[in-house]
Amino acid sequence: MATAIRRPVPDDQLSAARTFPPDFLWGTATAAYQIEGAAALDGRTPSIWDTYARTPGRVRNGDTGDVATDHYHRWREDVAIMADLGVGAYRFSISWPRVQPTGRGPAVQRGLDFYRRLADELLDKGIKPVATLYHWDLPQELEDAGGWPERVTAERFAAYAELAAEALGDRVTTWTTLNEPWCSAFLGYGSGVHAPGRTDPVAALRAAHHLNLAHGRAVQALRAALPSKSQVSVTLNVHHVRPLTASDADADAVRRIDALANRIFTGPMFHGAYPDDLLEDTAGLTDWSFVRDGDTATARRPLDFLGVNYYTPTVVSAASPDGATHTSDGHGRSAHSPWPGASGVAFHLPPGDTTAMGWAVDPSGMYDLLRRLSADLPGTPMMITENGAAFDDYVNPGGEVRDPDRVAYLHGHLEAVHRAIESGVDVRGYFLWSLLDNFEWGYGYSKRFGAVYVDYPTGTRIPKSSARWYAGLARTGRLDP
Ligand code: NOJ
Repeated sequence: MATAIRRPVPDDQLSAARTFPPDFLWGTATAAYQIEGAAALDGRTPSIWDTYARTPGRVRNGDTGDVATDHYHRWREDVAIMADLGVGAYRFSISWPRVQPTGRGPAVQRGLDFYRRLADELLDKGIKPVATLYHWDLPQELEDAGGWPERVTAERFAAYAELAAEALGDRVTTWTTLNEPWCSAFLGYGSGVHAPGRTDPVAALRAAHHLNLAHGRAVQALRAALPSKSQVSVTLNVHHVRPLTASDADADAVRRIDALANRIFTGPMFHGAYPDDLLEDTAGLTDWSFVRDGDTATARRPLDFLGVNYYTPTVVSAASPDGATHTSDGHGRSAHSPWPGASGVAFHLPPGDTTAMGWAVDPSGMYDLLRRLSADLPGTPMMITENGAAFDDYVNPGGEVRDPDRVAYLHGHLEAVHRAIESGVDVRGYFLWSLLDNFEWGYGYSKRFGAVYVDYPTGTRIPKSSARWYAGLARTGRLDP
């Protein structure tokens, strides 16, 4: 894909009222391990995140997903909150080890029943269920057998996709195969800041390939098992990569990171091949002989939409000879780089406001990213499957949680989405990350992304002022200045 940076359309060329299309989907999003808890109930077996979180030193404060927000027991209350907010869709993930313990063999009905009840309740309240099959909770037994670096995991995933579609396809019509496979491959097997915590650059590249293959095989399984009106997608955290300066060396740094972050997935999934420059950049590490004939053709499946997760841009330069190489890429601290073959690249925090994650607030990155994707993947509708921000929220003496910074963040990014739509980009919906405060992976419960505050000791939910603001938007489809 080209890496040109496009400037936003000037304001005076846009219609004054920021009204979204009438059928635009307004949703909220979560993921199983981050909210469910009930880690050992009803036959669920451990996932790599259970193991990782229980390993001392891996997750901040030693937090685990054992209880999380206790959504496994409070799901009805959580659906009621969404109904109260008036959102039209809910993006959740299915816990693989809950519905197919150990990652192979027959389904466990008690696990599937949880998602059946959840979907029925959502439908009853007029909320469209949008299910993700894989939001990072690989059954531990599959990791013990080699995990994503091994081909067999892709086949296991296809079997799980078939089982889930057969059980839930009568009520869930919108499906996503993988959430952010870049994180699974490069944070899980490269820098080790995510489960399973391995730090092997070749394993990370192998994992990326088997995730691409798993996606293609799962789309085949879903299409075969689901009713024909169903929608199938994938969610990528497409990095919006910008150069620090206009130099050729910085442009080359952008190209390299774009290959490793984005085109390593969009290449096979949308064009049926890995980009030549990616293969060249990583030639010192691997000859890619783990890619078999037909694999990239399998990965390339027609999709109903591309899910895009955007939070912040990535600014890179060529590293000065004595410069640090992966200081502030926003993906957590590790002595090991999540960027195999990109040792001469430095990452920079752009000036300006940041969120509690230390991520720059930059809505223009959302606009530029959507414009670029629409140019590079013509005919592919897009859905913003995640956007949101962590801030240090607290309950005030009046019992309220006021989060004007989050409202400002969401407002700015939705304005950017609206501008992209006005300029002709086909964006079908937006999911706020997240419905609830939850387990933020390596940061544990220390980072709050929710529109709804969770008091962890009691499980009490308190909608923040951003939830009320978002409810107004979902009801009217109109973004006030
Ligand atoms: C992307 C991931 O999909 C989600 O699980 C995570 O909590 C958010 N980003 C925020 O980091």
